[in-house]
Amino acid sequence: MTNKSIDIKNKIIVKTGLPKEISLEGIKTEKAYQLSRECGMFKIPKTILIDKEKGILITTYIKNIKPLSNLLNSKQGEMEKLIKMAGRSLGVIHKNLTLSSKNAIEFSNFFDTDKEDPCAFLHGDFNLNNLQYDLSYNLIILDWDITPVVGQGINHGPIYWDIFCFVNAIFVSPPYSNIFSKRRHYLKRKKMADLFISSYEQNSKTKLKKSSIKKYADMINSIFSNQSRSKHKLHYHLLEESNRENFKKYFTELTK
Ligand SMILES: Nc1ncnc2c1ncn2[C@@H]1O[C@H](COP(=O)(O)OP(=O)(O)O)[C@@H](O)[C@H]1O
Ligand SMILES: [Mg+2]
Repeated sequence: MTNKSIDIKNKIIVKTGLPKEISLEGIKTEKAYQLSRECGMFKIPKTILIDKEKGILITTYIKNIKPLSNLLNSKQGEMEKLIKMAGRSLGVIHKNLTLSSKNAIEFSNFFDTDKEDPCAFLHGDFNLNNLQYDLSYNLIILDWDITPVVGQGINHGPIYWDIFCFVNAIFVSPPYSNIFSKRRHYLKRKKMADLFISSYEQNSKTKLKKSSIKKYADMINSIFSNQSRSKHKLHYHLLEESNRENFKKYFTELTK
């Protein structure tokens, strides 16, 4: 989201921003909270207040949580369990999270899509920072709004968007590889991506299509790499680029 800010006050979370975007994020967070209670697979902050005129969303603060990216180089067993749970949870979210159609902002209004691709209400920014874990390694899902790299408040579109944003994050989140660790790094991240995709497919009973994987993974790769190259050119070339090549290699192999 653009112009968004977040404030942690007295153990509550206060998000402010454009009224329309904040209210849609609030409505989606509320629905996701209900779903989390029904399925018991993940936790979500509870919505306390949505001020639709002023653009304010207040939710509960969840104690002692940390982003999944913290576990990329440690606690492999716990990370694998969380990644599986993330895949299963995303399957449930895509199947069961529904907003009224008047609240839908379509991905297809901004990007080329194929009518045959299955669509759902999206998390929008499913990555290793918005997915967190607590002291008992429960999965917490935060930030129910489209990535600021895209914006526009998009909340409904192809399931491939959320799935490959997460796979993108698996390959491209630091710590980065170096020339000595490149292959080991690739294999480790590939294992996580495979686990995530197979958990999604098993739980949602959806088989991902090779042509759609290629199309959306390519789209995500170029959107994120263009943004990163234009904002942090040196960082991109020194660190991110070779990890992005790994992401490309992965989805190219998947679609062979
Ligand atoms: N409900 C919450 N409980 C505890 N910490 C939170 C909560 N919501 C957000 N945070 C903290 O604030 C950070 C940013 O929140 P997020 O919702 O992802 O907003 P942003 O749009 O800025 O990414 C999170 O990574 C987390 O550290
Ligand atoms: Mg976030």
